[in-house]
Amino acid sequence: MNMAQLFEKKKQGKALSQAEIQYFVEGYTTGSIPDYQASSLLMAIRLLGMTDDEIFYLTKAMIESGDVIDLTSIEGFKIDKHSTGGVGDKVTLIVTPIIAALDIPVAKFSGKGLGITGGTIDKLESIRGFKTELSSQEFIDNVNKHKIAVAGQTGNLVPADKKLYALRDVTGTVDSIPLIAASIMSKKIASGADGIVLDVKCGSGAFMKTEEEAQVLADTMTAIGEKLGRKVVAHISDMDNPLGKMIGNKLEVVEAYALLSGRMDETHVDLLEECIIISSLMYQVAAGVNEAEATAAVKRVLEDGSAAAKFDEFIVAQGGDLADLVQKDTANKVAVKASSEGTVETINALLIGEASVSLGAGRLTKESELDYDAGIHLIAKKGDRVRADEPIAYLHSNRQIDEETIEKVQQAFTII
Ligand code: URA
Repeated sequence: MNMAQLFEKKKQGKALSQAEIQYFVEGYTTGSIPDYQASSLLMAIRLLGMTDDEIFYLTKAMIESGDVIDLTSIEGFKIDKHSTGGVGDKVTLIVTPIIAALDIPVAKFSGKGLGITGGTIDKLESIRGFKTELSSQEFIDNVNKHKIAVAGQTGNLVPADKKLYALRDVTGTVDSIPLIAASIMSKKIASGADGIVLDVKCGSGAFMKTEEEAQVLADTMTAIGEKLGRKVVAHISDMDNPLGKMIGNKLEVVEAYALLSGRMDETHVDLLEECIIISSLMYQVAAGVNEAEATAAVKRVLEDGSAAAKFDEFIVAQGGDLADLVQKDTANKVAVKASSEGTVETINALLIGEASVSLGAGRLTKESELDYDAGIHLIAKKGDRVRADEPIAYLHSNRQIDEETIEKVQQAFTII
């Protein structure tokens, strides 16, 4: 078998066989297939798509490229969640302690930010002392003891995705439903949880721009998970507007903590609603209860303080300093003012995401250093009335804040 034969088949619109897909994934992971041949096949997949069988074979081959985590020594139904990536998406920080407070084991492996979308691991690493690298034993012990552990993906978990994702990032092949589905599901399956709730983001700040595309991605991922014996539920959520009020690593931790502690004036109801939906789905999948029971249970642990207490326990268990869960002053802070009087119709999540990367909250290259305290605090949200020249957002950074970034944030607001 060789790559030329695979190209020929794809060009003729024929589906690749399981053996051919395995050959490609193995060859690229081990280095016998070069980047230029892999990128050619990825672009063919991006343009022509894949059949359901091809997507399944790709996911399986990717899982088999590395280690599969064995969580059988953790008692109970292990639940995980995954977001396809958004701006201001700190849902994981909030729903994981909620579920753990309900006595369901949360064993979660998370990633770093990708492009304009933030990553849970970067957010957690903004907390002084917090350890995201846990040995398998530490991870399992923490879930058994505290019902919660969130760690970075171990070195050899789906190495095929590490290489393929890096190549896709620079060859215009990220936004492909088959490739996203296989990338996400291979990591989720290899991470060992019994059930997975998928939060599929849709809108300007997401990879999927329309609801139709998001639905196809959701259905594709659910089908893969079920074929591999996992309970999977998908929820489609809006990513036209950033989620909550804070965008940036430490700022998002601070907002998540405020929400869990019931300080709703420091956050926004869109975030609370989204967290209730996702945690309710996680509880339904894990505990087999209906929606009304799950939602009531979630609200109970939010209101009685046990979710907030679980968050503290989780942060301390992974070495984090609770005294550091506060917003830090940055060297530079700029107010962005409303361009006119009116009602905020929308806040473009893509522009806000790009601006937050320029401030230092995200990476421009894999090697970029993050400014953990950098980011954007939205003062006005969709639906709010604003007066001309009143502050609608604050930008925080330890770097120089340029005019272009300020203008971008101002342009992100459509005021009518
Ligand atoms: N997140 C992933 O893990 N992979 C993708 O391809 C896109 C989003």
